[in-house]
Amino acid sequence: MQTLDPLLWPDSARWGPAGLEIGGCAVTTLARAYGTPLYVLDQATLAASAERFRAALQRVYPGASSVHYAGKALLNVPLARLIAAAGLGLDCVSLGEVAVARRADLDPAQIHLHGNAKPRAELEQALAWGIGRIVVDSLDELRLLHELTRDRATPQPILLRLNPGVAVQTHAHIQTGQLDSKFGLPIATGMAWEAAALALASPGLRLVGLHAHLGSQLADLTPFGAAIVRLAEFAAELRARYGWTMAELSPGGGLAVPYRSGDPAPTIDDYAAALATAVMAQCQRHGLPLPRLVIEPGRALIARAVVALYQVVAVKRIAGVRTFVAVDGGMGDNIRPALYDARYTALRADQPGGTPARSHAAAGQELVTIVGRYCESGDVLLRDITLPPLEAGALIAVPMAGAYTLSMASTYNLVPRPPLIAVGEGMATVLQRRETYEDLMARDSV
Ligand SMILES: Cc1ncc(COP(=O)(O)O)c(C=O)c1O
Repeated sequence: MQTLDPLLWPDSARWGPAGLEIGGCAVTTLARAYGTPLYVLDQATLAASAERFRAALQRVYPGASSVHYAGKALLNVPLARLIAAAGLGLDCVSLGEVAVARRADLDPAQIHLHGNAKPRAELEQALAWGIGRIVVDSLDELRLLHELTRDRATPQPILLRLNPGVAVQTHAHIQTGQLDSKFGLPIATGMAWEAAALALASPGLRLVGLHAHLGSQLADLTPFGAAIVRLAEFAAELRARYGWTMAELSPGGGLAVPYRSGDPAPTIDDYAAALATAVMAQCQRHGLPLPRLVIEPGRALIARAVVALYQVVAVKRIAGVRTFVAVDGGMGDNIRPALYDARYTALRADQPGGTPARSHAAAGQELVTIVGRYCESGDVLLRDITLPPLEAGALIAVPMAGAYTLSMASTYNLVPRPPLIAVGEGMATVLQRRETYEDLMARDSV
């Protein structure tokens, strides 16, 4: 029987008589009940990941620490409630995400608002809602906030998102810490100093700390240490110039996950230790008190908790060329392969024991390319994967499907977006239902 790699599949995933089971539910039953494509979230895996992040930081870092889930990875109202129940704060990047958090009754103080181009109306509303931290990304944003908060009795807490000039090894679309980036106030050009001076002179703002986010899917921990060196130097200089104390420091998110067996990815413990060691060393070097260490994991918190299920619609074998296996989802629910060349693995999920993907075709196996249903040749979900022979109606499961899939989903070709259901202890609950044709037309003048 095929072992399910515990680094890729939810904690509760196992083989049962009808095939793959998650949270005590057979995926064949779930597919029949909710249709496909279907996104299945294992609640126990999510809760365990949240706890792992919290506990790992607390174990290695003697100062205060907090974990803010980066909602851009995946967010809806019930999921925001699960995040809050797990004791995490929430990072939002738009007022839409904040509105979801509010509907879920999250404490506004636990919400951080990011974004490199926050529109004025969103900032005004965020201020009115009492958002815990606004993470300022540009001088223009800071000048606007300065104006908007001039007459406030209680200053708005802010963090400055700095661009530390630290390049990372990841796909170009998800690099953010290098100087040539739209994100953050560069230290190297002096913009960060200008921002700090204005923030400290703004009566309606309270500069609480410094932030940097280097990029996503970072398998090498070294750049985190390099960024912390620069943030601590900056904090020490601000203390020398203005007597300011950095109460909070956030190295953002970005921890990599494996998408296929053997992909390099540090453990949560290694990540927490690397951050804590760097912050403690730099604070000692500059004689700074330990700040609250705030991390913002998105991908590494949610990816493994979710499995995507697709049904095979058509198989086209072109002898000597390629076998295309077309499924009922694709780039509309998971744009990552098309956008970033992201690679996944998959299993046939409707047979006991399943069969793993292999790099070379083995007896009874077939090298196939799994393509989506959208009208684009680039709609390829998995290129060159070895699976048992598939026919129309077969069920395929793709692990590590929680991050940047549904949150980036589109209604391209006017295909309704799939539902997200939570499973645990043999029960399934709909977190977000499938979109309907009526939903698709809801904004149209008819
Ligand atoms: C500011 C910030 N924090 C956190 C994250 C989450 O990153 P990841 O999902 O890689 O952990 C992002 C992702 O882009 C981000 O921009």
